[in-house]
Amino acid sequence: VDEPLVLGIETSCDETGIGVVRGTTLLADAIASSMSEHAKYGGVVPEVASRAHLAAMAGTMREALDTAGVRLSDVDAVAVTAGPGLAGALLVGVAAAKAYALAAGKPLYGVNHLSAHVAVDTLEHGPLPEPAIAMLVSGGHSSLLMVEDLAGRVEPLGATIDDAAGEAFDKVARLLGLPFPGGPPIDKAARNGDPVAIDFPRGLTSPRDLARHRFDFSFSGLKTAVARWVEARERTGEPVPVDDVAASFQEAVCDVLSRKAIDACRSNGVDTLLIGGGVAANSRLRSMATERAERYGIRVRVPRPKLCTDNGAMVAALGSHLVAAAVPPSGLDIPADSSLP
Ligand code: KG4
Ligand code: ZN
Repeated sequence: VDEPLVLGIETSCDETGIGVVRGTTLLADAIASSMSEHAKYGGVVPEVASRAHLAAMAGTMREALDTAGVRLSDVDAVAVTAGPGLAGALLVGVAAAKAYALAAGKPLYGVNHLSAHVAVDTLEHGPLPEPAIAMLVSGGHSSLLMVEDLAGRVEPLGATIDDAAGEAFDKVARLLGLPFPGGPPIDKAARNGDPVAIDFPRGLTSPRDLARHRFDFSFSGLKTAVARWVEARERTGEPVPVDDVAASFQEAVCDVLSRKAIDACRSNGVDTLLIGGGVAANSRLRSMATERAERYGIRVRVPRPKLCTDNGAMVAALGSHLVAAAVPPSGLDIPADSSLP
C-alpha cells in the first residue's frame, strides 16, 4: 500500500507554512514569514499577521504542491494547526484548510501546534519511541511534555511561568546591542566567552521552588540579573565583556533546561528526550543536553534547525501520523482554539 500523502498548514504566529509529506518522507516545506512587517513594532502584531497569512496562503500552497510534484486532488488528508496561537492567525489557516479539504474531498485533521513540534522529528529520525519526554523551547513557548502516545496522549509536565527561553535570548541580546532575533548572535558570541565568568541565577532550581515548580521554568529573573550586571559595569565606565556575558547567560539557560529535561526523563523512567523549537538550534544546549543525558542512558533527538522553527512540515508530519494510527478525522466544523493547552 502507498503511504498517505498529507498536506499540513501552519499559521499560528507569523509564518505561513505549508508542508507535504508522504508517510514520514518530507516532499515540500514552503514558508512565507511576515516577521519583517512586525519588526518596526518590536513584536508580532496579530492583525498584521492575519492579513499576511491571507495574502500568502495561495502562493505558498502553489509552491508546496509544485515542489512536491503533486496536485491537490492527490492528497489523502489535510492537517492544520487548530491552536494554540494567535486567534486571527489560526482562523486564516483553519478556514483555508477547510476549503482545501472540501475542494479535494479529503478528511481534515485539526492538530495541536506543540504536538506538531514533536511529530516533525519523525521526518528526520523515524518513529518516535514512546513514551518520550519532549522539551519545546522557542520565542513563544517553553514546555516539558510527556509523550505517551503522539497520536493522542501528550501531557504537559511544566512550562515557563514568565518569559519563554527564546524571549530571554532576544531580550538579553538587545541589552548587549546584538541584533534580533537574539539567539544566533548570542550563540556565536558565547563561543569566544567564558561560561563561568559570571554566576547568573538558575530560575526555579532551589529546593523550595522545586517542591512547587519541579518541571516549570522562569527566565525573567535571569534577564533582570543580566541587565543589572551590565548596568553596574557601564557605571564603572569599563567596557562590557559581551562574549563573557553571552556565554555565562547561555550557560545558565542551558543548565536549567537540560537539568529539568533530564529530571523529567529519569523520574518518569523515560529514555528518549526530544528537543524542539527555535532554541533547539542552540549549539550549547545541544551539546550539554546530549552529554548529560548520555550519563543516564537517555538518547537525545533534535531535528535540524529548519524543522525546529514553525513550519508546515511539522503539521503534515503529525497529520500523517494520525492517518497511520487510524485516528478519526476532525470534520469540517472544527474551531480554531487559540488557548488549546
Ligand atoms: O520556533 P521559533 O522560530 O519561533 C517561535 O518563537 O515560535 O523560535 C524563535 C526563537 C527566537 O527567540 C530566537 O532567538 C531563538 O528561537 N533562537 C535561538 C537560536 N536560534 C534561534 N536561541 C538560542 N540559540 C540559537 N542558536
Ligand atoms: Zn512553535
